[in-house]
Amino acid sequence: MTFAVAPNSACLSQAFLRNKMKCILRKPQPQLPASNDTVTFLINGTQYTVSASNNGSLNPESRLVDYIRDQAKLKGTKWTCREGGCGACVVTARTKDPQTGQELVRAVNSCLTPVYACDGWDISTVEDLGNRRDGYHPIQKRLAHFGGTQCGFCSAGMVMNMYSLAMSNKNLKSQDIENTFDGNICRCTGYRPIFDAFKSFADDADPEIKKRCDDIEDCGSCPGKSSGGCCSRPAANLPSANLDLSLPTGEKWNKITDLKTTFEILNNHAKNKIKYRIVAGNTGTGVFKFDGPYDAYVEVNNVPDLSVLSVNKSEAVLGAGITLTKAIDFLENLGNTEGFKYAGGMGHHIRRVANTPVRNFGTIAGNIMMKHDHHDFPSDIFLILEAVGAKVYVASSPTDISSYKLVDFLNVDMRGRLIVYFTIPKRKGNYVYRSFKITKRHQNAHAYVNAAFLIKVDPALDFKITEKPSICFGGINPKFVHATRTEDALTGADLADPNTLKKAIKMLDEEVEPDHHLPDSTPQYRKQLTQNLLYKVVLGILGEKADGNLHSGAEVLIREQNSGRQTYDTDEEFGMSPLYKPVAKLEALAQCSGEAEYVNDIPKQQDELSGAFVTATLANTEIKTIDASEALKVPGVVTFITSKDIPGRNSFYDGFMGNGKEEVFVETEVKASGQALGLVVAQSREIALAAAKLVKVEYQESKRPVLKIKEAISKAKEEGTFESAIMYPPFMNVKSPDEPNPTSQYKIKGEFNIGGQAHVQMENHVTLVIPQEDGLLVYAATQWMDQCQMMIAKALNIPNNSIDIKVKRIGGAYGSKISRGTHVAVAAAVASHITRKPVRIVLDMEHGFEMMGKRLPYHTEYEAGFDQNGKIDALQAKVICDSGMYDLDTTSAFAVAFMQSCYNAKGWNLQPGRVTTNTHTNTFCRAPGTTQGIAIIENIMEHVADTLKKDPVEVRQANFLKPGDPLLPCHGKQHEGDIFEGVNLVPNIIEELQRSGDYEERKRLIEEFNRSNRWKKRGLALVPMRYLQGFHGMKLSAFVAIHNQDGTVSISHAGVECGQGINTKVAQTAAHTLGIPMSKIAVKAANNLTAANSDCTGGAITSELVCYAITRACQQIAERMAPIKKGLEDPSWEELVQKCNQGGIDLRGTYQYSANDADVKPYDIYGANLTEVEVDILTGEFKIVRLDLVEDAGKSLSPEIDIGQIEGSLVMGLGLWSEEKLVFDPETGRLLTRNTWEYKVPLPKCIPEDIRIVIMRNAPNPLGVLRSKATGEPPLCLAVAVLFAIKNAIKAARSDAGNTEWFQLDGPVTPEDVVRLSLTNSGEHF
Ligand SMILES: Cc1cc2nc3c(=O)[nH]c(=O)nc-3n(C[C@H](O)[C@H](O)[C@H](O)COP(=O)(O)OP(=O)(O)OC[C@H]3O[C@@H](n4cnc5c(N)ncnc54)[C@H](O)[C@@H]3O)c2cc1C
Ligand code: FES
Ligand code: FES
Repeated sequence: MTFAVAPNSACLSQAFLRNKMKCILRKPQPQLPASNDTVTFLINGTQYTVSASNNGSLNPESRLVDYIRDQAKLKGTKWTCREGGCGACVVTARTKDPQTGQELVRAVNSCLTPVYACDGWDISTVEDLGNRRDGYHPIQKRLAHFGGTQCGFCSAGMVMNMYSLAMSNKNLKSQDIENTFDGNICRCTGYRPIFDAFKSFADDADPEIKKRCDDIEDCGSCPGKSSGGCCSRPAANLPSANLDLSLPTGEKWNKITDLKTTFEILNNHAKNKIKYRIVAGNTGTGVFKFDGPYDAYVEVNNVPDLSVLSVNKSEAVLGAGITLTKAIDFLENLGNTEGFKYAGGMGHHIRRVANTPVRNFGTIAGNIMMKHDHHDFPSDIFLILEAVGAKVYVASSPTDISSYKLVDFLNVDMRGRLIVYFTIPKRKGNYVYRSFKITKRHQNAHAYVNAAFLIKVDPALDFKITEKPSICFGGINPKFVHATRTEDALTGADLADPNTLKKAIKMLDEEVEPDHHLPDSTPQYRKQLTQNLLYKVVLGILGEKADGNLHSGAEVLIREQNSGRQTYDTDEEFGMSPLYKPVAKLEALAQCSGEAEYVNDIPKQQDELSGAFVTATLANTEIKTIDASEALKVPGVVTFITSKDIPGRNSFYDGFMGNGKEEVFVETEVKASGQALGLVVAQSREIALAAAKLVKVEYQESKRPVLKIKEAISKAKEEGTFESAIMYPPFMNVKSPDEPNPTSQYKIKGEFNIGGQAHVQMENHVTLVIPQEDGLLVYAATQWMDQCQMMIAKALNIPNNSIDIKVKRIGGAYGSKISRGTHVAVAAAVASHITRKPVRIVLDMEHGFEMMGKRLPYHTEYEAGFDQNGKIDALQAKVICDSGMYDLDTTSAFAVAFMQSCYNAKGWNLQPGRVTTNTHTNTFCRAPGTTQGIAIIENIMEHVADTLKKDPVEVRQANFLKPGDPLLPCHGKQHEGDIFEGVNLVPNIIEELQRSGDYEERKRLIEEFNRSNRWKKRGLALVPMRYLQGFHGMKLSAFVAIHNQDGTVSISHAGVECGQGINTKVAQTAAHTLGIPMSKIAVKAANNLTAANSDCTGGAITSELVCYAITRACQQIAERMAPIKKGLEDPSWEELVQKCNQGGIDLRGTYQYSANDADVKPYDIYGANLTEVEVDILTGEFKIVRLDLVEDAGKSLSPEIDIGQIEGSLVMGLGLWSEEKLVFDPETGRLLTRNTWEYKVPLPKCIPEDIRIVIMRNAPNPLGVLRSKATGEPPLCLAVAVLFAIKNAIKAARSDAGNTEWFQLDGPVTPEDVVRLSLTNSGEHF
């Protein structure tokens, strides 16, 4: 076994990086002219001037990201969420500190930045760093080299976030780097390789990481050299003039650089009742998107007086315009000053507010005003300031300044007034400050409940509280701030007296009255949090005075830095061949430099139009009328399209089996909220979106929607249709030949529910359709070209051969672009057909969430019988999935097929079923059905073990599948009478994992830990898997052409590159088969000509099957070349190719893999996952301490890529089980978790602190392609171990609470579930 490290080489240090960065900088910057009616800024050294009087297309809401992409034509910068929640749009901004004049280099979310606020900015995008022609930047190279890109859609944002950090001249430490990536989502990689890449720049980088740096940095890569050999770049000379812009769209935009003018303008606006917005960081628009429109904007970023920071005898002063980033530094430093010790904790708290780019520009005043305008906003800044007795100073003129307590400020009329600064008081004496933020996710998540405490205690006097304490909670209800009665009750009380706490808890119970607004957590949980947090504070104050095993309650969970180890074989057997070796992804550098083109990067076409969907806001109703007249009046709107305008079939998808229909636009019946009703087509996306909001829809009376699987089941049971309408007919059952044992020694009965999961691919759904001579050219983000072509042809009633589909790459999909992407493609094609113009539709994230189905939720009812060893001899399970509104991509048949996993299934009868609900048609999502099937059987194993009080591993061992055991017949994968003839690798894997993962020792340590800690618990779980890879009926083709002049090779194949690395594996395979270096090979866009009739990319099998087709296509050519080669003496490749061409040899090969290729057979994939978690029982938060995963990938074709697939898939699975929860409005059926604010996918600190991945060695696959196995989906099935590990931790807490009975834990588990199920009763357990 070898470690995945590159040959020894010293990693280049951070000092090198800085040198390199200096070297890479552009030519000296021009002086930006100061002007009163133009906004001037630099992008990558080029000056852009926006003239207010002559710029019809820009309005005050126009964002920098669009300017960069559409005006500067720099497509490297991407957008996904447009709300500061994903990091795709991050660029670097150089500005000057208005107070000190010092240069500030900061990462900024260009999606939140108004173009008009960029006056004087010097902006760098990913293109500024490096490119193919001039050489790449070290940051770009390292990210590529470490396998930090898959689909690449997040990569530019990652690079620029890192670049901004490095350029802000900090001493780079690994921890800083990790902390900085708290706002950049990567749905593909699982983050570990991104961290490794960037941490390699840190002074304290792990030597293993350093070793991997290789010699990838060479001086020749400095783009600066080609532009004149510059080595440093002075900051652009920023003008500081006021701006007074009268925008062509009618609004005013003032940029102010002094307070006096600011007041004049504000007073004037107030007097004239002009609706205005003060613009500071403008990040508030990421949270409250619909506060406008405004008639005037007053930009105050450049007012020096708003950026003061000072400390005097009695207080510290923070200017209103201080950014959160600056506030952190200031407060953390201030914490070392006598009288301000508490400030350190405040600074620390702010580190968990929003994310780095938001904190870089978001200001304190902006945050406080958000709370002022939206009392229900759980502002952390408000809370911590209020708790310490801060004052806010509000002014309407330089002399008219009033101060308020923060709570009082909430009701102050702010028209014409400005927050100018805040003060926090110096406090003498022993003050304890604690603040908390309990969230869905550790990073970049608003609080369920936040809390801040400032308590003066005297330890010498039994911890007497010597003055009225300050106890504040957020997230309770819009009015609640101070727990005043509790504060009173605690005043003068002795904390060491147990009755004090009891009384305080009782008081809290009485005075805290949380409201309930979905998707917030329940009032019960939030109330309990207030009590538990107070308890934490008290335990912290009492310290050693509290019982030893309670100490764990005092602290919050600390997430340690991430570390990883990846282990795999490499193979020297093939000498120079790149196969079976770790190679960098073909497109990695292009992705890291923004050169990789995605559909929405294709330049705007002549006369191009944009489409925006009008969607239903109600479920389970019918349309009465749709009135688009107002929308059609909007200048620039071209037409509004409904179902009536579709010339052919109104369906974008007929179902995986081709036996259904899903309307492009609803005709009458609205089943789900979010269904498309029509499409506004306009000259720009902005116009189309704005006009779509004006379309009026009247509905008939709606019926209450059925949104949950259990509701649908109960309804069917009540109506007596459960068996007939929900359960599939018996022939679909997966059943052993033996009947279940009716007299099993032990019997259990239970249920298990699994939630849905949104795909959250970073590239939103998008299509560009261009009319051409013989039909339509379609650039679609689809995993299924054939389906796209067919459905467009049907909708338009045109022949299939009039449609050309092209897919170069897609920015992530995970199944979302199998059937769902076609919706956008068909709608765009209809619009293009009608208007005869190019039409582009790019969904925004919210529309994507609302319009698109997701992973299917599941409900299982089971009964099992077993003996004293846990050997199951009877199992009846009804496995029901929620197909959403149409039963088109249902997966419960897969689920039951996968339930046998690595077990003997004697006496099993598994019955699949499905319900329909008033939610969108649910669809395939990475490891569809398989994930649930394996989770369901593993949950049953846990239940059996719990009943017998045995280690669940022993129970699993008692059930292992052995050679000669019957296999359950299931849907073409296994047949009636099949017996297991292979080798079940699971027992060996488990043995190895138990050894390498110190299973027994860790189990012992965990038991000890749990005994000694009442309020922190650890849990360990080991989950094995046998995954039936059987999607072999698919058809996938490849086309290979060798160019005679230079012997280079072009390939186009049927697989869609969506981050899984298919192009790299294809190039490796072709290079291997033809015996040439990979550098000779280019993989071109997939298209429906060379890949006609191919199936979709999915099921994790596409790479292998396409590699099969590639091998055959290359072999065809090689066979034709062989006679010529024979006649030549040791020819070079180029010579051979030329001679073949001269000899009339066809140098093109094509092959379609299909079920007829009998040498490729279904096979099993084995693996296991050992996961350890730590849970805070008082808050319900958890972290993954360590995760060891072993997977059998056969003989991995490309180990770095397979490791990436394993980690990425695993982390998506961790999200499914422990984070991502979908919540619908029970009345309207509308999805409430439809953006990054409410729906939380894993961020870097969600991944295991210590993650160790092993690709099994010496495990070639005799049945698969080139002895390899699929990797993209199976690891997701293993992620369920996290659920069981959390469950085991909860179990330990329940046991302390006196309950050792089995309990049901469904996925995804939330902190609220943890607290509820831990039986933490505040009254009883304190
Ligand atoms: C993705 C994301 C996550 C976030 N997470 C959290 C979180 O976890 N906890 C939390 O507390 N906050 C969170 N926030 C909120 C964030 O802290 C605020 O967006 C930020 O502080 C606002 O500052 P700004 O300068 O950008 O304000 P702007 O957006 O510029 O302005 C916001 C409001 O303040 C007004 N305003 C600005 N300056 C002044 C002034 N001097 N006087 C009077 N009015 C003024 C504006 O008119 C506007 O109404 C999050 C924001 C985002 C985008
Ligand atoms: S697009 Fe800007 S943060 Fe998501
Ligand atoms: S590579 Fe990060 S989202 Fe795909």
